[in-house]
Amino acid sequence: MNNRMIKIVEVGPRDGLQNEKSILSTELKLNLIHKLMDAGLKTIEVTSFVSPKWVPQMADHTELVMQLSKVAGVRTIALVPNEKGLSNATAVGADSIAVFAAASESFSQKNINCSIAQSLDNFKQVIAQAKMQKQWIRGYISCVLGCPYEGHIAPTQVLNVANALYNAGCDEISIGDTIGVGTAKQAQSLIRDLKSSIPIEKLAVHFHDTYGQALANIYACMEEGIRIIDSSVSGLGGCPYAKGASGNVATEEVVYMLHGMGLKTGINLEKLINAGQYICDALNIKNRSKVANALLSKK
Ligand code: HMG
Ligand code: MG
Repeated sequence: MNNRMIKIVEVGPRDGLQNEKSILSTELKLNLIHKLMDAGLKTIEVTSFVSPKWVPQMADHTELVMQLSKVAGVRTIALVPNEKGLSNATAVGADSIAVFAAASESFSQKNINCSIAQSLDNFKQVIAQAKMQKQWIRGYISCVLGCPYEGHIAPTQVLNVANALYNAGCDEISIGDTIGVGTAKQAQSLIRDLKSSIPIEKLAVHFHDTYGQALANIYACMEEGIRIIDSSVSGLGGCPYAKGASGNVATEEVVYMLHGMGLKTGINLEKLINAGQYICDALNIKNRSKVANALLSKK
């Protein structure tokens, strides 16, 4: 694995902030995103064009994307749940979007108010439209290793949804352990199954760290060839429709581990830690990254 570049997808401004109690101003969010860009993040999920009644934290999506600096070589992604979301995102120039399905029926109902089959029909239209508009498309699958309502999720359910999204035209598929219950061997086995039908370089892993398993799971998936990792600065967030789910694995933790393994991310850890501390101060919360806290305490 040495000398290989790992792609980090920073999801803090969306997956992180969507679940924080305080609703931040657009200006503070933009400051965070620009600090993340300055730290070297090349792929950042910046907001979601979902219903503001469902997720009020993301209600300023239009203003945010309009005011976002376009930086060469940096991809900014907007999450969209339907054609309305796609059309609103496209109107302000979003060139990369993400759709989000689930491997659990109950979670699909709670999160987007429809069944998995209905969501896949909807996303096929969204993806086809986005492809016509030459947008880059990420497809998420939630609850791949467990569901807050159903418990165990059979790997075949994940495979069905992943193949449907990939065959519909997604450029990248992110495999989400939304509630962070999975462990290393399960995660590895799921990636092994998935890579028999989807090229490994198109697969990303998205671990929430509720049970402290995220880094071990990432490492196990990297052994299967995974090179795209989702994470959230300072471990922000969770999921509003998955009670008890804590934040994504902290980007600082992932970068520290990867650099320690001699791998490259293009990220400056010190600047990343400053970006994380900036947002924790703005939210008036404790930094959840152990790496950030350890390095900040040395200063
Ligand atoms: P619905 O209520 O079934 O939709 O919501 P509807 O079509 O009946 O419309 C109801 C109202 O919403 C209408 O307005 C629509 O215009 C409006 P009204 O007439 O009542 O004034 N509406 C919208 N407004 C703005 N933007 C839109 C939009 N669509 C409809 N795009 C809907 C269905 C999908 C919209 C809703 O359920 C929703 O917004 N859900 C989003 C939930 C969400 O954001 N969850 C968190 C993200 S997923 C996640 O975090 C997991 C992930 O990180 C991976 C992992 O960890 O596993 C990705
Ligand atoms: Mg998530």
